[in-house]
Amino acid sequence: MAKTYNISLIKGDGIGTEIVNEAVKVLDAVGKKFDIIFNYKEYLMGGCAIDATGNPLPQETIDGVKASDACLFGAIGGPKWDNLSRELRPESGLLRFRKEMGVFANLRPAVVYDELTDASSLKPEVIKGVDIMVVRELIGGIYFGKPSGKDETHGWNTMVYSIQEIERIAHVAFKLAMKRDKRVCSIDKANVLDVSALWRETVEKISKEYPEVELSHMYVDNCAMQLIANPRQFDVILTGNIFGDILSDEASMLSGSIGLLPSASTGESVAVYEPIHGSAPDIAGQNKANPIATISSASMMLRYSLDEIEAANAIDDAIKKAMSDGYRTGDLAAYDCKELVNTQQMGDIIASNIL
Ligand code: IPM
Ligand code: MG
Repeated sequence: MAKTYNISLIKGDGIGTEIVNEAVKVLDAVGKKFDIIFNYKEYLMGGCAIDATGNPLPQETIDGVKASDACLFGAIGGPKWDNLSRELRPESGLLRFRKEMGVFANLRPAVVYDELTDASSLKPEVIKGVDIMVVRELIGGIYFGKPSGKDETHGWNTMVYSIQEIERIAHVAFKLAMKRDKRVCSIDKANVLDVSALWRETVEKISKEYPEVELSHMYVDNCAMQLIANPRQFDVILTGNIFGDILSDEASMLSGSIGLLPSASTGESVAVYEPIHGSAPDIAGQNKANPIATISSASMMLRYSLDEIEAANAIDDAIKKAMSDGYRTGDLAAYDCKELVNTQQMGDIIASNIL
């Protein structure tokens, strides 16, 4: 009998609908091949939710996603909502959503496809074979610390982590490293920040439970430099919320296009899978966006939430084949492009590589 999964979809704003539709197409192809049924239910979040309900994160969305097996997310935000007050902006809905879902671990892989080593702004010999997993703490640190606020003369935020918050994200990083190259580099600013001193001590302590994994520490400024100078030295990068935000954007550019990279946010209950890029309002509705990061996020969903490893591998292989066959969306048109395709065509090609 076919296995059935309930997938919540948050398409969001900008290119969100276009790219999620292609991921659904590919999921259905893989479902057909491996006898899996996906039931989808759509929920609003971000600018479209503001327009429809006045609230960037309606309660119905939280409840619906919590009741699903996993959530596939497109992108949110856009200039239309940029002038709203901070609490009403799409971004604040996203932060509340992460907190509500308890997704404390954000996994952001930065992998360089062999076909695209020329697409990076770095030299091919520097980036060839790069395979990094950034593990970013997602619901703590300075993004959520209290007190925070602003008055006429001051603005303030608080960077705070509890031992328990550091321990649980450290476990995620070490467990992942065990399945990879068994190296964790923990990033902090322990030469300046007390919160980082606690971070470092706690990560050290947890590492004793994973004797096979080699742990190193690096200050965040040095890490920013090392990612450009010698990215292959990294396997798993473990870090807090704001450092992870910055370093994962940097790491993503090693691959040449932010349109390729997926992410997973996992934690206490339902996990959320999304491309790391934004809603690209400048190309929304034009059938131009690269859907690969979202399709790849669907593969992560199969792998990490649904334990459908064969199906996940099938998607990854289908993406690689589309790349090596020379199909490119506009963002990568300059690199070994044999045929320029649009969003839907890329989805069709990847789906047909699976059948
Ligand atoms: C990200 C984004 C978000 C963040 C913004 C949109 C709130 O930059 O997912 O990296 O800062 O976490
Ligand atoms: Mg970011």
